Amino acid sequence: MKGIILAGGSGTRLHPITFATSKQLIPIYDKPMIYYPLSVLMLAGIREILIISTPASVPAFRTLLGDGAHLGLDLTYAEQREPAGIAEAFLIGEDHIRGGPCALILGDNLFHGVNFYATLARSRAELDGCVLFGYPVTDPHRYGVAELDAGGKLVSITEKPADPRSDCAITGLYLYDDRVAGIARELRPSPRGELEITDVNRAYLDEGRAALVELGRGFTWLDAGTQESLLEAGQYVQILERRQGVRIACIEEIALRMGFIGAQECAELGARMGNSAYGRYVIDVARSLG
Ligand code: G1P
Repeated sequence: MKGIILAGGSGTRLHPITFATSKQLIPIYDKPMIYYPLSVLMLAGIREILIISTPASVPAFRTLLGDGAHLGLDLTYAEQREPAGIAEAFLIGEDHIRGGPCALILGDNLFHGVNFYATLARSRAELDGCVLFGYPVTDPHRYGVAELDAGGKLVSITEKPADPRSDCAITGLYLYDDRVAGIARELRPSPRGELEITDVNRAYLDEGRAALVELGRGFTWLDAGTQESLLEAGQYVQILERRQGVRIACIEEIALRMGFIGAQECAELGARMGNSAYGRYVIDVARSLG
């Protein structure tokens, strides 16, 4: 399975922070935002990943992550010239997907929870059409909203409804079979002029091939698109990391634990950042797992 991280957009809700840099490069506590979605794809065992961003920001992402070989990954980059909708990622990434299944994750989404690794593995194994991930929120009108029947089966999906039928938001992580680019190609732009991811998901739902995995209480899903949510996400990460002494979304640690790199390579990555607490953590992890 291939992966796509969509890290485009102009981040207008974060102006002036995002005038000179991409939203997905600004930090959530101790690391750039894109580390969080990247770590999710890595945990799903996905190593060939396309990062889509604006023409102005692609060079900075390349500086940060390069070709990914140091993490045992194969990272490539593409530009989204205008924010023309999430589903445009499948058209921009059509060559990358090359008719195979893919996972798409939005660059400002943070997922964290026990056994997420197992949830991802199961969802990949059971993929038939698409898999969406739902999460209960107090403000569902801000998101795509899933309606489930009494048996927990997905019956409707609505984008930012004024009057939501449930509190179940559809998160920014999606797994698709090999037909997703073809489906995206058939879409018409929504009234706001965008190729909506919700329309892709509805096409699968109409075929009876959209599954929803509920990430329940005890799991954490945050997005970091506004000043408040950015700060809250940072506080969440800070609290957990300081309390437990572990780091969330440490891509070097995940690369080591997933067997993408060895302990020696991991230690070298840490040494390059040895002046920071993050770098020293990477060195310690490499020592303890080596
Ligand atoms: C997008 C999707 C929405 C989804 C959300 C998750 O909204 O359109 O369905 O629930 O991402 O983060 P946006 O953040 O672009 O407003």
